[in-house]
Amino acid sequence: MKLHEKNITIDFCEIFNTVEKPLIVRSPGRVNIIGEHTDYNDGFVLPAAIDKAAYVAVSKRNDNIISLYANEFNQHHQTTLNEINKTDKHWPNYILGIVDQLQKLHMPLAGFNLLVDADIPIGAGLSSSAALECATVFALNELFALQLTKAEMAHLAQHAEHEFAGVNCGVMDMFASLFGKKDHVINLDCRSLLYEYVPLNLHGYKILLLNTNVKHQLSSSEYNTRRKQCEQGVAWVKEQVPAVIALRDVTIAMLDKYVLPKDALIYQRCKYVVDENNRLLQACNDLKKGDITSLGKKMFATHDGLSKQYEVSCKELDFLVDHVRNNKAVLGARMMGGGFGGCTINLVKETEINKLIAAIKPAYETATGLQLTYYIASIEEGTGIVAQKNYVHV
Ligand code: GLA
Repeated sequence: MKLHEKNITIDFCEIFNTVEKPLIVRSPGRVNIIGEHTDYNDGFVLPAAIDKAAYVAVSKRNDNIISLYANEFNQHHQTTLNEINKTDKHWPNYILGIVDQLQKLHMPLAGFNLLVDADIPIGAGLSSSAALECATVFALNELFALQLTKAEMAHLAQHAEHEFAGVNCGVMDMFASLFGKKDHVINLDCRSLLYEYVPLNLHGYKILLLNTNVKHQLSSSEYNTRRKQCEQGVAWVKEQVPAVIALRDVTIAMLDKYVLPKDALIYQRCKYVVDENNRLLQACNDLKKGDITSLGKKMFATHDGLSKQYEVSCKELDFLVDHVRNNKAVLGARMMGGGFGGCTINLVKETEINKLIAAIKPAYETATGLQLTYYIASIEEGTGIVAQKNYVHV
């Protein structure tokens, strides 16, 4: 048993002053190999669950009180089932957002105690918020026998993020957290939610995440703006081609004809998405053929699109990608997730990782004045219950 899982039980019993064994659920963060800002355009993504996760320990109460505690912040939050409102504390919103969604579906809930712990760095683009939402919905589904499917949980968590965190995100993060499979990436069609597990054979290369440690304030408002710009582009195409529902259905020729004459910026945003969707489909074939060199090149192309056309990068992310661009040990690198900060994802030859870090860390820190942290991500299983037999009874 991992120390983390043991400690959360001990902490739970101490905080809620009980000897009752809680149910523990682990829900991981995610990486995304390629396919960025495609999910809310009904497109494709290629994410995977990683070895960093959110854990919740829960048990039922006999009243309608919801009592929450976050280890990371040493903070309590208490409310009742009748008063599910957003809070200024931030972290309870991810849990309360789920309760709110369940109540909208008239699910039979009662009060509960919930302790949350996590080892996913916050604001690093590894989806710590989706992990917490998925851990919560999975745990409450189990605790109250709600019989939700994992796909329903993913959509529910997505809506919780829209309504309680104010980010109009796509479904990728939640889906990756819930459906992750060890050593596989998920080729997900975000329109139909049909998916295929593709083995991630990296032939001596590893996924190295370089964290800019930039937490950009603009990220959620700019994210929502990008989404609106895509929708505007679709609306203009749809006036002429009514069958079109999302950028997924749009070609570059349609953009040239119906969007470019109206607005150059909207055209630029939409073109990035259409190109990225096509790039992902090719990259997925590269991966299946074992051609990770071609896959890596596409990651650099994605970064350039995100930085110059979609404009969701920042100078720190660009610095990290530019620094490794001509390094033979690095097959591909790009910013990952929503953007404006967080991590770059790099495919790096395992034997060269130490050398790379030794060079890039001081260079980054001198150039930006910020610390560079890094993680070698391994690909793990998605959301699940931590085995009962592993519980420590105190
Ligand atoms: C964030 C969102 C996702 C997705 C990515 C960009 O992680 O939560 O839904 O849109 O950005 O690909």
